[in-house]
Amino acid sequence: MQLGNLTFQECLLLQSCRLHSKRLPLSRLPVIYGHRLASTDSGSSGGNAAPNRLNNASAKSLFLCGQEFESDDYTNLTDRIIEQVNCGLHRQRGHPLWLLTNRIVGHFNANYTRSRSRPLFTVVDNLSPIVTPEQNFDSLLIPADHPSRRPSDVYYLNRGRLLRGHTSAHQCDLLRQGLDAFLVVGDVYRRDEIDRSHFPVFHQMEGVRIYSQEQLFAGAKDSADSLRMFDRSRNRTDEQQAGHSVETSKLLEHELKSCLEGLARRLFGSSIAYRWVPAYFPFTHPSWELEVRHSQSDGGEADWMEMLGCGIVEQRLLDGCGLPNRTGWAFGLGLERWAMQLFSVPDIRLFWSKDPAFLAQFAQPCQPGADLWQPVQYKPISVYPPCPMDLSFWLPAADASFHSNDFYDLVRSIAGDLVEQVSLIDEFRHPKDGRMSLCYRIVYRSHERTLTSEEARTVHDQIAKSAVTRWAVQIR
Ligand code: DAH
Repeated sequence: MQLGNLTFQECLLLQSCRLHSKRLPLSRLPVIYGHRLASTDSGSSGGNAAPNRLNNASAKSLFLCGQEFESDDYTNLTDRIIEQVNCGLHRQRGHPLWLLTNRIVGHFNANYTRSRSRPLFTVVDNLSPIVTPEQNFDSLLIPADHPSRRPSDVYYLNRGRLLRGHTSAHQCDLLRQGLDAFLVVGDVYRRDEIDRSHFPVFHQMEGVRIYSQEQLFAGAKDSADSLRMFDRSRNRTDEQQAGHSVETSKLLEHELKSCLEGLARRLFGSSIAYRWVPAYFPFTHPSWELEVRHSQSDGGEADWMEMLGCGIVEQRLLDGCGLPNRTGWAFGLGLERWAMQLFSVPDIRLFWSKDPAFLAQFAQPCQPGADLWQPVQYKPISVYPPCPMDLSFWLPAADASFHSNDFYDLVRSIAGDLVEQVSLIDEFRHPKDGRMSLCYRIVYRSHERTLTSEEARTVHDQIAKSAVTRWAVQIR
């Protein structure tokens, strides 16, 4: 451990200060599909006939979900990711993500029904995670040059196929199929940093509801006839889309927000504190994020945590789906984030644990016929010590192209779930030859046992070796 005289906590603190300072040209903020406006400028696809297999460096194709895909210059899947494709944790009865999914669906079914108590929302939880750029980006009006399309952020099978980065990728297909209210649950994939709340595979739930003029104003009784869904004279403002009448904008916003507030209250309790923050997504306008407050256990200042993104569906998107006379709203939420909050799970990797001591804690409410809502609080099985190690190297040339996400993938491919966090803690340019020196801190920790430092060292050395082979870096 190269911690000098500092304690581990001090190092982490120091490192987070450095990371938040402005001098990190090689690192980046995680790219999501939108951003909040306040921060200015700044499933299964049927049978798995063949096992998932990766191209090794020279292979021309890969097998995923029983299909073969030609690889090309965009291919960047790793073995570890391939192993996890179609994991379907949300479909495994007894898993905390199954429990959460079923609570949410239960809430929707109890509160939104069609005639004869049929559920209003159709639940779709088995769509293939392999999608086209058209589904993941174009159909959602995400611009051609949007950073979320970069191979450094997306797992591409090849130029024509990728692992969905969000469940929004299915919105247009399902709308075109004629669904007017649906929930999509599925695994999503993003190349991202490594820490306790980020994992390259996680699960999302998407909700969409669209309305005809009659449906939207059904509650208005007397005045329903005089209300109009569209008003072509209205321009786009921060509060509304062009062509939407004032009543439409207000009503959709109200329906959306009350739906999600109701969900948050049902799950987290009626006394939960929440707030709406204006946001931007290419596929909705206006857009918001819902934040909930959780008090610090040490009595310090309360923290606001972003729980979901949502908004009024862009009319252009609905027009593109052949639905010019409908309006609607949509939302997307990360299931792990909700489950961590709800069940007090401290580390996202735990959702991948096969340890019976972990899963047993969620078993009771998941039994057929049991009360899904009985309280569950995760109790740590035991805490094993972290083992931090630093790796510093020179990039081969001043103009060497190198992306931290490539390094994170390499670390994960080799260290698997033994890696808890990887952070770029230092970087500087050689004054003479202009080469960059980078230093990453890798924190190894197992959730199942104490790692010996020899074990961590062996993995660490393997990572160093692979970095040398892959990028010709020079270890310092
Ligand atoms: N797809 C967004 C994401 O993953 C979340 C989201 C935001 C989904 C707004 C929506 C929405 O349906 O309307 O970052």
